Amino acid sequence: MINGERLISRPMRWAMVGGGRTGQVGYKHRTGALRDGNYQLVAGAFDLDAERGRDFGVNLGVAAERCYADYKALIAGETTREDGVDVVSIATPNFTHYEITKACLEAGLHVICEKPLFFTVAECDEVARLAEQKGLIVGVTYGFTGHPLVHQMAAMVKKGMLGDIRIVDLQYTHGFNAGDDVDAGEAVKWRTNPRTAGPTFVLGDIGTHLYYLSEVVLPHMKVERLLCDRKAFIPTRAPLEDHATVLMHYDNGARGRLWVSSVNAGNMGSQRYRFVGSKASLEWSDSHPDQLIYEVQGEPGRILHHGMPYLEQESLAIDRMGALHTEGLGDSWSNIYLWIAQAIDAANRGDRVFLKTHHYPGITAGTEGVRWLENCVRSADADAAWVDFA
Ligand code: NAI
Repeated sequence: MINGERLISRPMRWAMVGGGRTGQVGYKHRTGALRDGNYQLVAGAFDLDAERGRDFGVNLGVAAERCYADYKALIAGETTREDGVDVVSIATPNFTHYEITKACLEAGLHVICEKPLFFTVAECDEVARLAEQKGLIVGVTYGFTGHPLVHQMAAMVKKGMLGDIRIVDLQYTHGFNAGDDVDAGEAVKWRTNPRTAGPTFVLGDIGTHLYYLSEVVLPHMKVERLLCDRKAFIPTRAPLEDHATVLMHYDNGARGRLWVSSVNAGNMGSQRYRFVGSKASLEWSDSHPDQLIYEVQGEPGRILHHGMPYLEQESLAIDRMGALHTEGLGDSWSNIYLWIAQAIDAANRGDRVFLKTHHYPGITAGTEGVRWLENCVRSADADAAWVDFA
């Protein structure tokens, strides 16, 4: 069980780029990072609007002189201070991730970046080489994969409790973009423009969460071929998609089906994962993250609850609230930030042995997400043809 006790040598001096007053995801970062005292928010370039960013930063308790106008000023200011930051989180629109990550790494700073990590696998590979060369960590905030029951699913699959995995059924949908974008806010505008969003809209925005979580649960399975059919129901979003279905063939013969959509009008179901094996199935949704449906063929269905002693050690070890009390998204983000802090701490100490086995969403996870997107786009652009996973 995680109880806030310190698990690293010293707290990280932490800065944020983006995630300002009007940003959607910034508070999730702060919820995750500040929970256990593993990070101290001491600097930031929080906003495109420098004045609003400074005002916001000061209200968060950051010294005014360490609220910078942009990330370049932040790097210049912080790398010349004795007590400069160790790590920078990037919570800005997709098109800025690559440039800011690279600049931070070149300046010797660890990075925690939003997904989708970058636009291309070539960019990911280049940044992975740079991080390796510098001995720095790049964490990626796949914020839903810190839920204890996600790791319960992985442990049950690993123990063979489902038998051979046959079907992977993934869905992340909502209806927030069912209407047109005439009066849309900034967060929709940049998401629906290929220059600022990258090669995809919903596939990268929400589909990469599905893909990474399925990799965590099924690390032994790899996608061999896929078919992606995507469409913009609101034509101004083309060539990007607001809806897509992806069929996947895995190397063990399993079949996968993935549906992402932001035009599923009225739907508030968010994410649903179903893993079907030859003996039993598991189903989990982030709408009820502390319940896991376990169905064994020929037996009554069961609902497993987080924090209960009948769960696997892998799940109990990362539970925070204990059974009977709600465990949710904030707890999941705290686990992600803790695991990344442990990775940074190990990198700082040069502890390669720890890093070899330590689980956290890092540059490989970010790269695999981008690789999956590239394959989806290649298939979709070939009129939804089957493509070998490259
Ligand atoms: P947003 O548009 O709501 O907020 C962006 C924030 O970054 C704003 O505060 C804006 O002023 C600031 N900003 C923009 N460019 C900047 C720059 N160059 N320097 C400093 N600040 C800058 O965007 P949202 O929805 O918060 O998304 C940001 C990123 O987070 C995206 O990559 C998105 O895919 C990802 N995201 C991830 C989620 C997750 O669960 N991991 C959830 C939501 C978004």
